[in-house]
This record gives sequence, structure tokens and C-alpha cells, in this order.
Amino acid sequence: MLAKKELSVVILAAGKGTRMHSKLPKVLHKICGKEMLYYSIKQAQSISDDVCVVLGFEAELVQSSMEKYFKDIRYLTQDLANYPGTAGALKNYRPKYKKVLVLNGDMPLVQTEKLELFLHFDTPIVMSVLHFLHHREGKCGYGRAVIKNNEVLEVIEEKDANEEILKIQTMNAGVYCIDSNLLENFLAQMHNNNAQKEYYLTDIIAYSKNNGLKISPVFVDEESYKGVNTRLDLAKSEEIMCRRIRNRWLREGVSMQLPESIYIEEGVSFSGECMLENGVRLTGNTQIIHSHIKAHSVIEDSIVEFSDVGPLAHLRPKSELKNTHIGNFVEVKASKLDGVKAGHLSYIGDCEAQEGTNIGAGFITCNYDGKRKHKTFIGKNVFIGSDTQAVAPVTLESECIIGAGTTITKDVKKGQLLLTRADEKRLDNFYEIFFKDK
Ligand code: UD1
Ligand code: CA
Repeated sequence: MLAKKELSVVILAAGKGTRMHSKLPKVLHKICGKEMLYYSIKQAQSISDDVCVVLGFEAELVQSSMEKYFKDIRYLTQDLANYPGTAGALKNYRPKYKKVLVLNGDMPLVQTEKLELFLHFDTPIVMSVLHFLHHREGKCGYGRAVIKNNEVLEVIEEKDANEEILKIQTMNAGVYCIDSNLLENFLAQMHNNNAQKEYYLTDIIAYSKNNGLKISPVFVDEESYKGVNTRLDLAKSEEIMCRRIRNRWLREGVSMQLPESIYIEEGVSFSGECMLENGVRLTGNTQIIHSHIKAHSVIEDSIVEFSDVGPLAHLRPKSELKNTHIGNFVEVKASKLDGVKAGHLSYIGDCEAQEGTNIGAGFITCNYDGKRKHKTFIGKNVFIGSDTQAVAPVTLESECIIGAGTTITKDVKKGQLLLTRADEKRLDNFYEIFFKDK
């Protein structure tokens, strides 16, 4: 492996991604909670200290999205109007080192160890090739690589290909390792004589060949080098990424029932003994610590510690649970629950509740007055009956009891019972009287 200081990496991310049919630039479409480009940059930074991203369509938006995650990245803006295409993208690029690894920004599945393959070659140019064992009918989005005697002779884009060329089963995977002088010489004479009137980087293959250079193919697998052009590719890549994330955590000791049905985003982490039942969805920077998440629960950007959640529960962002039991059809949002039981059918939002508190079925924090959000504070060992509402802002001091059917509008003091149910009324034979003239 080369030291980080010997290799420059440039990531092409200027395209709009027309085939996605979206206003969002293609490289900002997400896979397992993070933008596609995030993954390419992360891998690039692990092998190089000279990473450059070429921007174009919605350049500012793409750059600010990446600045949330990364420092020490160079950004370059492509002149899309005059120099469109993957070679046009590199027109003003100047690498720091002699070896340049070119990556497409729409390849989120590529992994460092797979990129290192390219660095073992001493030839001025190496190109990644996917070899499909079975012929795929029609178009598949890749340029066809013409290979003879283990040498790449030419790459022909689908849009420029005839029937014969389309039958070729060796595809350009879109990663190249190029000598910086060769790249510079190629860019000085690039042209756009093709169906799309774009400057193709793939022309560097024919250019090198014409200059007597041998181009070595590096055969790679589609699981790591899949290009994302359409939403179908995006969905398939997310499946692969999600499987990698699950497998990593399974190896780390997280138990999962029917793992294929579980969705875990890149930012999620686990510690201690954790169990996930089927259909669980964990997003954002959720942390699960020594907890059991039951079937079909959704947890977003929350911390769950020594607790059990679900089945069919929903923890929305900024929920923090410790030693807590959350049962079915309970929604929690921006709340801190420590040693609490809420077994069924509740909405707990903008709330803090302390140890020993029991929340009955059908408790609701009325946290929104139509203009603002307000807080509910619940102390220790509070017993809340079923079908109750806390109209926030309100405080329930420790050791108070809220009777079933109560609407709490004012603070409840320590030790009090609060009951706002209307007095009972009974009329004998009322049914008969009421319906007699029906
Ligand atoms: C490209 C290759 C094709 C290869 C495939 C692998 C070319 C001409 N074709 O095709 O041979 O099989 O990748 O996935 O290189 N981009 C820019 N500026 C542009 C155009 C594109 O930065 O002007 C960026 C895009 O944002 C994208 C990447 O380059 O991240 C690839 O562009 P895309 O249009 O997807 O190229 P493909 O048609 O897939
Ligand atoms: Ca592509």
C-alpha cells in the first residue's frame, strides 16, 4: 500500500444526474442516511491527503452538504457550459502527486481495500473493468471496454455504440489510476466528437493506446463498483450498503431476527448486548445501548439505554430513554424518560419523566398550543391513569396520582390525587324511553 502522501484522488461530482428525474443533484441522494458523495469522500480520505471534488450542478449546495462532514478537501468548479463531460470536469484540476486516482461521485459502494488494488500497478494508466458473466439485455449504463490480450484498447459509451459493441460484456467501472503527466497531456488535446457532444474521460484509453501505452484492466466486482444512474440503482445500492451495515453489527455481537427486514443507517451505533426484532428501522445518530427493540419499531436520532421498546413503537428525534419500558403504539418525541413504564397507546412529547413513574394507556402530552411547543415535567413515582391529558406547560410533582380520564391543566403537587372526571349520572330504563318513538 502507498503512503497517504503519494496519491491524489479526484472525485467527479458535477453532473446533474438527469436519469434520477430529480431537482436534487444526484450525488446528494442518500443511501442509508448519508449522501452518496459522503461515502466516496470517506473512502478517498482514508487513502489520500490530497482529495479534490469537482462540482458543477448546484455546486454550493453540494459543497455545503459535504463541509458538514469533512475538512481538508479541495473543491473545484467545472465549466459545464463549455466543457461538459467527465474529461471536461478535470480541465482545471492539478494533482499534488504523480499518481491520480479518478473516482465517479456516483459510486457509493466502493471500499478502500478495493481501491488499493489500483496502486499495485506501475503502468501510466489502469482502468477498472466489470465483467458480466451473463449478457444483459439492452442498455445498462456502462461504457463498453474493448479488451484484447489483457489490454484495454478502447471504451465506447452506450450512446455511441452499435449492436455489436452493446454485446460486449466487459464494462468500464469508472475508476482509473492515471499518471499526472499523461492526464495533463490528454486534457490538452481532448475533443467532443461524440453523440453527446461531451468531453469524455474514457477517450484517454484510445489516446494512451495511440501513444504506445498499454492499459491494464483491473477486474472488479459490481457489489463495490456499482454506478448509480437511476433510482433503481439507488435502491439496489442501498440494499447492499444496508446489508454491509447489518453484517458489521452482527459480527460485533448485535442479535437480529430476520436481519433482511431490518434497516439501519450509517450513523447508528450499538454497545452492550442488543437485540433487534424483525422490521425495526433505526435512523440518524441513534445509539442503542444494552436494549431490546421489538418488532416494527422506528427509532430516529435517539438514545436508548437499558430499555425495551415496542413492538410497533415510534421514538422521534431527541428522545432519551434509560431503564425504560415503551410498549406498543407509543410515540415519544424530544423527551427524557428515566425508569419509566409507558406500555400502550400514548404520545409523550417535550417531556421529562423520572424514575418509578407509570404512564397508563391513552396518556397524551398536549405540548402544542397552535403557536408554540411547551414542556411537561413529571417527577418520581407518579401514577398516571388511562385516558389522561397533560396540557403543557405543566408539572406533575413526585408521588402524585392522576385518576383515569383526567385533563391536567395546572401543576399537581407532591402526594395529591387529581381527578377531573364529571360526576356519574344514572337513569334507569333510559334506553327504552329514548328509542320508544323510533
Ligand atoms: C461513466 C463512463 C462510463 C462508465 C460509467 C461507470 C464516461 C464518458 N463514461 O458513464 O464509461 O461505464 O461512468 O459508472 O466517463 N460528471 C461530472 N461532470 C460532467 C459529467 C459527469 O463531474 O460533466 C460526474 C457525475 O457527477 C458522476 C460521474 O461524473 O458522478 C459519472 O457521470 P455519469 O454521467 O454518471 O457517467 P456515466 O454515463 O455513468
Ligand atoms: Ca454513472
